[in-house]
Amino acid sequence: METLIHNLNINDLDMNAIDEGAAIIRKGGTVVFPTETVYGLGANALAETSVNRIFHAKGRPSDNPLIVHVSNHDMLLFCIGEPLSEKAKKLIKSFWPGPLTIVFKKSKYIPDNVTGGLDTVAIRMPNNKVALELIERSMVPIAAPSANISGKPSPTAPEHVISDMGGKVDMILLCSDTVVGVESTVIDISGEIPIILRPGGVTKEDLEIVLGEVNIDPGIIEKNASPKSPGMKYTHYAPDAQMVIIKGKNISSKILQMAGADIRQGLRVGILTIDANKDKYKGLTVISIGGSDEEAAHNFFNALREFDKIGVDKIYAEALKEEYLGLAVMNRMKKAAGFNIIEI
Ligand code: TXA
Ligand code: MG
Repeated sequence: METLIHNLNINDLDMNAIDEGAAIIRKGGTVVFPTETVYGLGANALAETSVNRIFHAKGRPSDNPLIVHVSNHDMLLFCIGEPLSEKAKKLIKSFWPGPLTIVFKKSKYIPDNVTGGLDTVAIRMPNNKVALELIERSMVPIAAPSANISGKPSPTAPEHVISDMGGKVDMILLCSDTVVGVESTVIDISGEIPIILRPGGVTKEDLEIVLGEVNIDPGIIEKNASPKSPGMKYTHYAPDAQMVIIKGKNISSKILQMAGADIRQGLRVGILTIDANKDKYKGLTVISIGGSDEEAAHNFFNALREFDKIGVDKIYAEALKEEYLGLAVMNRMKKAAGFNIIEI
């Protein structure tokens, strides 16, 4: 199919392009748009046939539910089938618009294919002007997964979107690279103690300031456990190369040793590291994801795609500390590596 592409400037938005996108959404089509986390592949969340087009474009399994994006309070209330709890009010006040997705009981207006047949719906208000204008002007909530081919790293830059979604959607709205770089945090607040179903842009530490005790779904930590959030069970973010995570002390000497053995076997090796360590791998194919957790989150998915472009057979990745945004990055890294972790 033909895909209309608009390049937008965040400081001087072309509102005609966004209105065109809104019209496509209302007519049942698909529009890729930027959010603060990753690019999303959107369609009218209230129309079953429109939502089907999302699954088709991504090649996504139909039991993996979508996040519904709203731009105002009335839209939120329209989508949920319960009164707003005190916890929800606190979260919304503290983190919306922003990278936090809250799971609610769904209203009768949300079709079953949005929720993968669940009676709950995941909702967030994104903190990106293009996204908010697109939703507001569409006048309907927009269901949107990350705009990557299912199983590939989420798109954080215009070029990722073009290569994954060009020819598969009605319109692509491009803007700059996304800010956060990992997806939103998904939280279930239905029980006594809130549970993080997917770590993301809002950290556990931030959530605890607002909610008190917060748990992490044990299903997302172990390879063979079953996660509460359906999407977390799929292999994800997989680069073409085999990836191994190295964790512990003095990891660079261990990585150099293993990389040497691989290189002698004729393999092309890539190393994923941080700024503080990158000089230890001089002469090798090295990508640093930066000097802070924020930079690591911002750069991680792009680094995976860069390794694909360079063409390597094996990637050694240095583990980050699993706290603050490092928890979200490590969750993606483990999935990208198929939980292949060597602890020293
Ligand atoms: O930052 C983001 O969240 C991005 C941008 C585009 O907003 N979207 C995104 O969507 O990451 P997606 O489809 O790639 O991931 C949605 C996640 C999946 O893990 C899915 O299982 C979970 O949210 N989810 C959706 N509805 C749910 C529900 N009712 N209960 C539990 N988990 C749900
Ligand atoms: Mg995704």
